[in-house]
Amino acid sequence: MNGVPKHERLIAWVQEMADRCQPDQIYWCDGSKEEYDRLMAMMVTSGSAIPLKTRPNSFLFRSHPSDVARVEDRTYISTQKPDDAGPTNNWIDPGELREIMKKLYDGCMKGRTMYVIPFSMGPIGSPIAKIGIEITDSPYVVCNMHIMTRVGTRVLEVLGTEGEFIPCMHSVGAPLEPGDKDEAWPCAPMEKKYISHFPEENLIWSFGSGYGGNALLGKKCLALRIASAMAHREGWMAEHMLILRFTSPGGKRYHIAAAFPSACGKTNLAMLQPTVEGWTCETIGDDIAWMKIGPDGRLYAINPEAGFFGVAPGTSYDSNPMAMDSLHENIIFTNCALTDDGDVWWEDMDGDPPTHAIDWKGRDWTPESKDPGAHPNARFTAPASQCPCICEDWEKPEGVPIDIFIFGGRRTGVVPLVTEAFNWDHGVFLGATASSETTAANIGDIGTLRRDSFAMKPFCGYNMGDYFQHWLTMGDALGDKAPRIFYVNWFRRDSDGKFLWPGFGENSRVLKWMCERVDGKSGAYETPIGLLPEDGALDLKGLNVSPGIMQELLKIDEEAWKAEIPTIEKHFSQFGDRLPQRLKEQLDELRKRFGL
Ligand code: OXD
Ligand code: MN
Repeated sequence: MNGVPKHERLIAWVQEMADRCQPDQIYWCDGSKEEYDRLMAMMVTSGSAIPLKTRPNSFLFRSHPSDVARVEDRTYISTQKPDDAGPTNNWIDPGELREIMKKLYDGCMKGRTMYVIPFSMGPIGSPIAKIGIEITDSPYVVCNMHIMTRVGTRVLEVLGTEGEFIPCMHSVGAPLEPGDKDEAWPCAPMEKKYISHFPEENLIWSFGSGYGGNALLGKKCLALRIASAMAHREGWMAEHMLILRFTSPGGKRYHIAAAFPSACGKTNLAMLQPTVEGWTCETIGDDIAWMKIGPDGRLYAINPEAGFFGVAPGTSYDSNPMAMDSLHENIIFTNCALTDDGDVWWEDMDGDPPTHAIDWKGRDWTPESKDPGAHPNARFTAPASQCPCICEDWEKPEGVPIDIFIFGGRRTGVVPLVTEAFNWDHGVFLGATASSETTAANIGDIGTLRRDSFAMKPFCGYNMGDYFQHWLTMGDALGDKAPRIFYVNWFRRDSDGKFLWPGFGENSRVLKWMCERVDGKSGAYETPIGLLPEDGALDLKGLNVSPGIMQELLKIDEEAWKAEIPTIEKHFSQFGDRLPQRLKEQLDELRKRFGL
C-alpha cells in the first residue's frame, strides 16, 4: 500500500472499514496533481467524465436522475438522547442506526477501490483548522475533495502518530460482482441512502449518494453538523455563512459574514462587484465560516473550505462575473447541459441559449424542450484560488475579525430590504426566526416557506434550542466587541411578481449603509421589527429605482407582520424548555411593539 501513515488508530479504523466493505484495494490519496489527473483520466475512459473542449482540465459529470441534491429526509443526527438532536433533526438511536448501516456497508465496495483521503478543513496547521479522513469508493468524490479541501501528505504530517481526526465514512452503495458493468454514476436507491452523524463521537457515516453535501463529507457533514456540535462544546462557532471584506474609499476594512439558506445567493454576495463608488469587495468564503474569539476579544473567522461548490443555473456575467471568471479551467461541472462545441451551458447563462445541446440526463435538448437543459441544482466545483477577487488574506491562519453579521432568505413579500437589530439578543431573534422559500438544493418541495433559523436548519448538529442559547452566550462573551447584526431580503416582489430590488452589485448600497451604521455615520429609525434606513441614508446615487419602489422595498405591512407572529410562536414552541428565556422575551417585545 502507498503512503500509509504511522498512526495506529487511523490504520485500525481504515482496516476495520475495509474488512467490512471488502474493496478490491485500498488507496491512500496524496493530494497531488498527478493523482487528480490519473483519476480523471480513468473516469474519462470509463465514460463517467466528459472532458470539455473549451475549458482546459475541466470535466462534466451527469449524476443518476435520483441523486441530484442533498437529502435532508435521509440525514440523521444520532445522539444517545433524541432531545439532544432536537426537533429540527431526524433521529435514530445510535446503536440501531449503526446496525442498519453496518448491514449496508457489508461488502458494499466489492469490485471497487477504497480511497482514503486525509484532508484539512482550514489552512493546514491553522489554530482553527480540523483534520478529517474520508474513506470513499468514489473517484469523483476524491477529485472534488481535492478542490474543496486541502488534501494529502502534508495533512498526515500534521496528524503525526496520534493527532485527532474526524472519521468520515462514505460509500456510493453499489458493489460490483465479477462481470458487472459499472454505472456512469453509481448510487443506491433513496430508501437505502443514509447521511448519518454521531456528534457525540465526532463520526460521520454516509451511504448511498454520490452528490454534493451527501458525499463530499468535509462540507456540510464535518464543517457544519459535526463542527457545530464541537463548537457548542468548545465555545466557538461553525456557521453557514459567506465571508467577505468590504473596503471603503478611504481604505477602511469591514469584514462581513452572512447566512442565507442554500441557493439564496451567498456565492453571489461573496463575489460582489460594488456599484457604490470607491468601495471594493474581496471574497474570503462563500458557504461556511468557523469563528473563534481572538486574543483581542473580537470574533475571528476562517473559511474552512478551499473551493466553491456553487449552483450553476442563474450564474452569469450579469449576476456574478467573478464566479464566471473563476470557471475558465480546472473545474468539475455536475449536471450542466453540454453544448455541441463541447462547452457547458445552464439556464440564465449570458447570451442566447444554444440551439441544440445535450441535457443533464444525456438527451437532446433545444430551447423548445419542456425540461431545463441543466438541473436546477447543477453545480460547479472550482478552486477558490481561481477567483479574481479572492482576498489576499483568505488563508490567513488566524482568520479575519468580523464586524457585521447578516441573516436573510428568499421572501416574496412582508420582509423589507434591510433591518438592523436593536441589539445582540434581538439579532439572535432575527436569526432564529429567519424564513425562506425553499430551493432545489435539497430534494423536496420548492418555493414553500419555512423557518430556516440562521440558515442552519439542515446543518445544525444538535438541539437548535441549545444552538440559540450558544449564540446568546457567544454574544455575552463578546460584549461590546460583538459584530452588529442585520437582516436582508433581496427578493421582495411587486404584485406582478417582479423583483423590486435589482440585487447583485447594487447590494453594495445596503452593505455601505451597514458599515456606516457601525461607524455611527448613518441614520436609522425605529420600527416594531428593527431599525430601518432613514430617508436618504441608503446611497442610491446612479440607481434607477423610483422612490415609490424604495418605499415598497422598505414598507412594513403591519397586518402581514402580525400574521407572522403565530408562525414564530409555532416555530419556537417545538423547542419546549430548550428555547432560551431571552428569545421568549424577544417575542413578547415584538408583540408589544405591534400593540398585541
Ligand atoms: C450547499 C448547500 O451546497 O447549502 O452549499 O446546499
Ligand atoms: Mn451551503
